[in-house]
Amino acid sequence: MRVKNICCIGAGYVGGPTMTVIAQKCPNIKVTVVDINASRIAAWNNEELSKLPIFEPGLDEIVKDARGRNLFFSTDIDKAIDEADMIFISVNTPTKTYGKGKGMASDLKYVELCARQIARVSKSDKIVVEKSTLPVRTASAIKNILENTGNDVQFQILSNPEFLSEGTAVNDLLFPDRILIGGDNNERGQIAIQALVDIYSYWVPKERILKTNIWSSELSKLTANAFLAQRVSSINAISELCEKSGADVHEVANAIGMDSRIGSKFLKASVGFGGSCFQKDILNLVYIAKTYGLNEVADYWEQVIIMNEHQKNRFSNRIISTLYNTVSGKKITFFGWAFKKDTNDTRESAAIKVADNLLSEQAKISVYDPKVEEERVYADLEYLNSRNPDDNRELLTVQTNPYKASKDSHAIAILTEWDEFKTYDWQKIYRNMIKPAFVFDGRGILDIKKLEKIGFVCYKLGSGN
Ligand code: UDX
Ligand code: ADP
Repeated sequence: MRVKNICCIGAGYVGGPTMTVIAQKCPNIKVTVVDINASRIAAWNNEELSKLPIFEPGLDEIVKDARGRNLFFSTDIDKAIDEADMIFISVNTPTKTYGKGKGMASDLKYVELCARQIARVSKSDKIVVEKSTLPVRTASAIKNILENTGNDVQFQILSNPEFLSEGTAVNDLLFPDRILIGGDNNERGQIAIQALVDIYSYWVPKERILKTNIWSSELSKLTANAFLAQRVSSINAISELCEKSGADVHEVANAIGMDSRIGSKFLKASVGFGGSCFQKDILNLVYIAKTYGLNEVADYWEQVIIMNEHQKNRFSNRIISTLYNTVSGKKITFFGWAFKKDTNDTRESAAIKVADNLLSEQAKISVYDPKVEEERVYADLEYLNSRNPDDNRELLTVQTNPYKASKDSHAIAILTEWDEFKTYDWQKIYRNMIKPAFVFDGRGILDIKKLEKIGFVCYKLGSGN
């Protein structure tokens, strides 16, 4: 079967870039990305490419290439579903904030709404592809909804998890390590799998396209993220030991990374991992394990999250203890709010928790991030619901200039590893700060020796001197 028409429901960090690359690589396929959020769709259609709703290096160029040719962004969801042979579900699946599985399980209400809408609208057979990260066995729930609608339409469900990493999404999509496609092991299932394989084959070498059963595909996504996050928590655990013992975590990471069995990636000690996937997926894994009564398995993976929380709290505690055990009324500047560099995404960013801890101690915070907008910062803090939103606005300001942000502050904390921080005139920054002027580098990106020469008192995460 040859797919001619794709619909993707959800124009977010996953759906937007993924469909843009598919459209660019498959000019014969019409790709329509739809979303209930009209302003997001309007932003995707904006003539000015700098106004796209998400920032990803290189994305604007490909959008320019494909948009209006075979790539379309629309709010007419029914029409796009009706026309499509293949429908990707890329809606958000946040951690549940209510009811059974609260704080752990994925909230599948958006996925379910999509499935119901597909069932209601479809008049012809469709392949439905799960792109959002979903807990194991979600496919069967989708299948149930689709198959019990009374319409005489055949649906095939595939799981095709996304492994792109934000900040490098375009490159990850163009040159993926692997593409994973899970489907039913019967004839119809295999035809559906092949239809999706044919799409990726436009640009991905065949040996990198893996076919599995649907549960393996779903579980592989959760497992990949759990393993990656575990590496970060492992090195972060060692960072604390380094600080006590006089070792340097960067030297340790370098030394162990040269062991080819361990490998050098994902060994950067940090103030804690963030992003929309790691925490959510591990919590999901923990919840699934608990559901099966596998308490040791659940506890094992939960420790990765506990370590991450500890790392964030340890960083804010370090700031407080260094500033003579009180930050009340003191101005602390945050360089970076995004959960990593080269993205405007702030979901689960370590900066949020660190700020929240310091605000609880009545610190004044001034935030500068090259890509994150002011209202996003306030929305992130409000989501934690720790204090009155007006208090957040009184204690925390968001600046668009790093020099202005750091003026008259007692300390600067690096929360995101943006490259531009390394290029600043740190002499100038120092001159305008209250002395002693402190720098807390939560990302290990600055040249501490140089800063100390200027006069800064420095804390480098994971370093024992
Ligand atoms: C992750 C997975 O990498 C990707 O495959 C999946 O599809 C979605 O989740 P993403 O969340 O975009 O991608 O970012 P990633 O680069 O994995 O980083 C996650 C967090 O870990 C960031 O906060 C990052 O700063 C932190 N991190 C990463 C470290 O602290 N140290 C490291 O060595 C690597
Ligand atoms: P991700 O990082 O998984 O892409 P995002 O939150 O960036 O998550 O994107 C998910 C998108 O899905 C949002 O823009 C949201 O408006 C959209 N969405 C959620 N539910 C539906 C739905 N039922 N129909 C269409 N779009 C939806």
